[in-house]
Amino acid sequence: MKTIGLIGAGHIGSQLARLAVKNGYDVVISNSRGPETLADLIGELGPRARAATPDEAAKAGDIVVVTIPLKNVGDVPVAPLAGKIVIDTNNYYPQRDGHIPELDNESTTTAELLQAHLPASKVVKAFNHIYAAQLTTDGKPAGSKDRRALVIAGDDAGAKATVTALLDQFGFDTVDAGPLKEGWRIQRDTPGYGPRRTAEELRKDLAAARRYADH
Ligand SMILES: NC(=O)c1ccc[n+]([C@@H]2O[C@H](COP(=O)([O-])OP(=O)(O)OC[C@H]3O[C@@H](n4cnc5c(N)ncnc54)[C@H](OP(=O)(O)O)[C@@H]3O)[C@@H](O)[C@H]2O)c1
Repeated sequence: MKTIGLIGAGHIGSQLARLAVKNGYDVVISNSRGPETLADLIGELGPRARAATPDEAAKAGDIVVVTIPLKNVGDVPVAPLAGKIVIDTNNYYPQRDGHIPELDNESTTTAELLQAHLPASKVVKAFNHIYAAQLTTDGKPAGSKDRRALVIAGDDAGAKATVTALLDQFGFDTVDAGPLKEGWRIQRDTPGYGPRRTAEELRKDLAAARRYADH
């Protein structure tokens, strides 16, 4: 695995690009307005990074991160992502995304929506409950005391193992919440959403999470 594709170059996308470059990956990053609008970021990231369209980023990435407002996931290119691991960082904010009934009634989860859009991809939920700025400040080497942990969820064990290894490289322990449908345990307004947590603390947070209807 050599290249990380990014669809979305905002708070999270740019931070993940920084982490990827720092850890020796090539990065192909895209947004909605076009590659020319990413010149400053590419200048900062250096020769390992290039700007592209979402379609090109999807084609180029060995792993591809989708990190855009949830309301736009229907725009994500489908064919070039077939067979690939796709990391989903997205959260649901009705004020920003409009109301999505199946998320309001919790009959599905944000990552399952992306998986339904990308049926031939292996979607793994990750990086959705850490503030963007902390991605480059909170990582520590494996084995460090009180190392911060991040949750993943996904339906493909191999894809989850790959993402766990990536998180470890980026400086974080991983807590596996289970299949994508368990991703609700780390959605907006759950105990683990936002605060800095070790793996042990995060497991307790996942167990303590409640459905919106039970709040
Ligand atoms: N900010 C955080 O701390 C944080 C933490 C965890 C998770 N998240 C979640 O992660 C996702 C990204 O958050 P963010 O804060 O990075 O958002 P952001 O700063 O608003 O950036 C969004 C990025 O997505 C791009 N984009 C929008 N629509 C697109 C489309 N149809 N195709 C390609 N690119 C598109 C935007 O490009 P243009 O600017 O060209 O439109 C922009 O680069 C959201 O779902 C958010 O809820 C955010």
